[in-house]
Amino acid sequence: MLESAVQSYDVVVLGAGAAGLMAAAEAGKRGRRTLLLDHADRVGKKILISGGGRSNFTNLGCTHENFLSENAHFARSALARFTPQDMVALVERYGIAYHEKTLGQLFCDRTSRDLVALLERECDEAGVRTLLETTVGGVRRGDAGFELETTAGAVRTASLIVATGGLSIPKMGATGFGYELARQFGLAIVEPRPGLVPFTFSAEDREMWCDLSGVSVETVTVSERKKAPSFREKSLITHRGLSGPAVLQISSYWRPGEEVTLDLAPGGEVFAALLGVGARRDTAAVFGALKGVLPGRWAERWMAVYAPEASQAYTNLALAKLEHRLHHWTVTPAGSEGYGKAEVTAGGVSTAELDPRTLEARRVPGLYFIGEVVDVTGWLGGYNFQWAWASGFCAGQAA
Ligand code: FDA
Repeated sequence: MLESAVQSYDVVVLGAGAAGLMAAAEAGKRGRRTLLLDHADRVGKKILISGGGRSNFTNLGCTHENFLSENAHFARSALARFTPQDMVALVERYGIAYHEKTLGQLFCDRTSRDLVALLERECDEAGVRTLLETTVGGVRRGDAGFELETTAGAVRTASLIVATGGLSIPKMGATGFGYELARQFGLAIVEPRPGLVPFTFSAEDREMWCDLSGVSVETVTVSERKKAPSFREKSLITHRGLSGPAVLQISSYWRPGEEVTLDLAPGGEVFAALLGVGARRDTAAVFGALKGVLPGRWAERWMAVYAPEASQAYTNLALAKLEHRLHHWTVTPAGSEGYGKAEVTAGGVSTAELDPRTLEARRVPGLYFIGEVVDVTGWLGGYNFQWAWASGFCAGQAA
């Protein structure tokens, strides 16, 4: 390497997404000479498309319990050091109007472009240099840090922060670069998998349900995994399977071959009135009760599949079976829609390798992993961005 041609920094941040922008700004504010590098043609692309263009940028109720990780407590420290209130204070400092949707979810009133502009300004004012459309060929450990071969030339840095995200939405520039780098340095990876992703049905289920595509209902979704939480939100039939918030949430806990159970009537017993003395117990009465909880087309199909014979007198046992099925609709997805549709990538760089306060690799001083590339995956509802801000903040403070 020709010494005069080498660009030298204190901190290089790879990946100008949510986590990388935050980390670079914080490092820059501390007077660290900081380079932010991305192969994309602009920063913050996922922020721009998030939350339907308005970015659900945090969740007021965010705690470590809203995340999946092999170490359920890992995120606690970073989340405590940069809280949703800290993010709100930053957004308010820039005069960005926002509103709260259900469950503490905060969205920009106008557009997520406001949020990207905020982060760009934070970086500019902190003196961060940004290089876009630049790829990294190789990284190696040098005498006092790391040496990078990039399409913009050789770069030397004391600290290297990896914020290259997960594998979700490859057409937006997602790569496995962060995992490869971790492996190169001998760090363990929790096998990545698509998270917050719609399910696909088997051919048989598709035949049975998918013409109802677009119909949704309030549900509780449950995974067969021990310790997995349940989620009470809408589920939706799609032209290939199931989606909607409740299904996306449970998908992060799902592994191929496992069952998922949906309570399609979480409000309580549906056929109780039919059990009373003298109550009508015919098919019309059952259908009527069902329509009280399911949209009409779904109720009709339900009857056709699970109560195909018209009856004048349902027995207690038959009603109990229908009631049970309604609250325990068990589906074995054929698969998921994969990284092309997954909102996040679960798994990633093992938290056992990282210091929870700084996100620095314990065995490789100066090397940090933040954001989605780490085995910390949030629920739907602003948690993933909060993790990106918090982990970015911590690494930016330490690097
Ligand atoms: P992110 O993926 O944001 O950034 C990684 C950066 O690294 C990218 O700029 C990429 O170009 C760059 N990069 C990758 N490989 C590279 C390489 N080899 N060389 C150089 N650069 C490289 N979350 C939330 O909390 N609220 C929400 O509303 C939404 N909405 C949402 C919608 C959609 C459609 C998606 C796909 C995702 C969301 N999310 C979300 C999830 C959220 O967007 C995600 O968790 C964060 O953006 C992760 O931030 P990171 O900075 O870790 O990665």
